[in-house]
Amino acid sequence: MKKTITDYNYNGKKVIIRCDLNVPIENGIITDDTRIKESLKSIKYLIDNNAKTIILSHLGKIKTQEDKSENTLYPVYIKLREYLNTNVYFSRETRGESLEELVNNLKEKDVLLVENTRFEDFPDKLESNCDEKLSKYWASLGDIFINDAYGTCHRAHASNVGIAKNLPNGIGFLVEKEITKLDEILNEDTHPYTVVMGGKKVSDKTLVIDNLITKCDYLLLGGGMCFTFLKSQNYNVGKSIVDNDNLIYCKNLMNKYRDKIILPVDIVTNNKNIREISSISDNEIGFDIGPQTIELFTDILKKSKRVIINGPMGVFEEEGFSNGTKKIYEIIKEKHIKTLIGGGDSAASVNKLGFANDFFHISTGGGATLEYLSGTILPGIAVIEEK
Ligand code: 3PG
Repeated sequence: MKKTITDYNYNGKKVIIRCDLNVPIENGIITDDTRIKESLKSIKYLIDNNAKTIILSHLGKIKTQEDKSENTLYPVYIKLREYLNTNVYFSRETRGESLEELVNNLKEKDVLLVENTRFEDFPDKLESNCDEKLSKYWASLGDIFINDAYGTCHRAHASNVGIAKNLPNGIGFLVEKEITKLDEILNEDTHPYTVVMGGKKVSDKTLVIDNLITKCDYLLLGGGMCFTFLKSQNYNVGKSIVDNDNLIYCKNLMNKYRDKIILPVDIVTNNKNIREISSISDNEIGFDIGPQTIELFTDILKKSKRVIINGPMGVFEEEGFSNGTKKIYEIIKEKHIKTLIGGGDSAASVNKLGFANDFFHISTGGGATLEYLSGTILPGIAVIEEK
C-alpha cells in the first residue's frame, strides 16, 4: 500500500503538493473548475494541519515563448483565493530568488501557488524530461512531497516523479479516491459487465480495448470510433471519421469477439437524417447513434451490473447530436447501475448534459484514466513509497 497524505505530521513543515490544475480557461475565465474543487480536500487538510503549502501544477503545453502568456496559472490563483480561507500567494517564477523568498516567508497555514511548471519546458523541456537538476531544485524547496495530480500520473515529469525521488512522499486524497474507485469497478466479480466506448480515434483506445475485452461481457461502440469498426465490416460510412491505420485491428477484433462487440445498427447523420447502417450515402457523416441503436444499447445496459464508459456516443456539444449520449446516461441513472465514467470528453459530456452527480465515479483523468484502464502502472503512483 502506498503512503498517503495522512501518514505525515505537517506542523510547520514546507509541503510541496503537486495538483492537476490543468483546467480549461477562455479569455482568462475558468470554464470548468472541477479539477480545482477536487484538489481542495488535500490542500485544506494541509492547511488544517499547519503546513506551509506550496502548490505545483502544469497548465496546457508550452512549446513557444507565446504559449507562456496564454497558459499562466494566475486565474487559478484567483480561484484558489475564493475557495481557501487563508493567505494565498502566487509566484510568477518557477525558480530563482523571488520564488525562494516567497517560500521562506511562508507561515503555517499559508499557501503558495507557483506558476505553470511547464514554463520550464521552453526551450529545453526540463519539466517533461524529468530533468534531474530541476527535480532536485524543486525538492529543495520543501520537506515533504504529496502527489495529488491524478490526471498527470501517467507522466514521469520533474514536478511529480522527479520531486518524489528526492523527498519523503505520499499520495493525496484525490489520487487515493481515483485509484480506489477504478480498482473497485475493475476488479469486482459482477456480471454482466459492460464497457461503452466512443470518442474519435481507435488508435487512442486499442490498449484499453485489448485489456478490457477479455474481461467484459459486452463492448458497445459508438461515437467517432464505431465507423472504423463498421468500415472493417465493409459498410459504407460516407465521410465519417475513419482511422484507416486500424482497420485490420478492428477486423481481427471483430472476428475474435463478434459475440461481445455490439456496433450501431443506425446513426444520425450530420444533416440530421436517421440512416440504417447499410444505407449511409457517400457524403454523409455519422454524428450520433440512432434510435434503434439506443434501444439495443439500453437493453444491454438495463441488465448490466457494472459499466465503464469511455467516450461520448456522438457530437454531444452540438445541438441535435447529444441524444445518444444522454439516453445512455438516463438509463444508467434510472436503473442505478454502478458506472464509472473515464476520459476527458466523457467527463465534459456528463457535466454539460446535467448528470454530474449520478454515477458511482466520474474520473478527473483523461490520459491517466485511459492508461489505468489499459492495465499500465502509472509512474506518478509507482514512484510513491510503500507504507
Ligand atoms: C490532462 O488534462 O489529461 C492532464 O492534465 C494531463 O495533461 P497532458 O496530457 O498535457 O500531460
